[in-house]
Amino acid sequence: MDLKDRPIGFFDSGVGGLSVLKQAVKILPHEDFVYYGDSLNAPYGIRTSDKVKELTFNAVKILINKNIKALVVACNTATSVSIEDLRKQYAKSMPIIGIEPALKPAVKNKKNGKIIIMATPVTLSESKFNNLMKKYNYNDNIVPMPCPGLVELIESGIVEGPEVEGYLKERYSCLIETEIASIVLGCTHYPFVKKALIKVVGEMGKDPFIIDGSSGTVNQLKRQLLKYDMIKKPGDEKGTVRIFNSLDTKKIIDLSYKLLSIK
Ligand code: DGL
Repeated sequence: MDLKDRPIGFFDSGVGGLSVLKQAVKILPHEDFVYYGDSLNAPYGIRTSDKVKELTFNAVKILINKNIKALVVACNTATSVSIEDLRKQYAKSMPIIGIEPALKPAVKNKKNGKIIIMATPVTLSESKFNNLMKKYNYNDNIVPMPCPGLVELIESGIVEGPEVEGYLKERYSCLIETEIASIVLGCTHYPFVKKALIKVVGEMGKDPFIIDGSSGTVNQLKRQLLKYDMIKKPGDEKGTVRIFNSLDTKKIIDLSYKLLSIK
């Protein structure tokens, strides 16, 4: 098979990376995609770094067996722990693209107030994130917000309604008096609860700029495909999406396609 015709692999600990895949399908509509979610082992964000690395390498091997031409680690947690080791092992054979909290556009946004970074406990504790904070030298204005438990709600298909809103209200209750400029969704699961988040912070009288890393990641994927002349030829018919999950139940596959199609 011609290299250009091979699929692009997407990986996440569960269904979160579908928020990035959705963006990729828009920007690269002729490409074929294969998605692997490791919902059986989710959440990764409360595990040890060694365990996250082991699970990530296992999942990546599954995608490599599906003959992918490029890999997108559509998981902030797996990226922060494993991207360097993945590149050491596989960068010679394919482009490897990771995702990180979209701090740059949040810092550029000129609104007054704090930048809230919602992410998993692992992402916020890794050196990659701390280096990112240093790079923007903005520590006083950044409020890291670990959100344990939120991924589990989304994995069970709950993305709106009282449970999600109650969770978010509790997380934001200490920020009632705080001016918020931006909220960075630093976990690929969180864009699926963006509507609930807008509602909750709106009820607190806030209207922040809410940003996630999917566009930056997909733009980087496109740049890499162009650089290595790997883009499927323009004019080709619409690409396909195949979704696999370590849980391998109809419920998780149906939820995955549903999340992929939510506007
Ligand atoms: N979606 C993943 C991320 O972007 C992590 C979710 C998890 O904790 O498994 O960080």
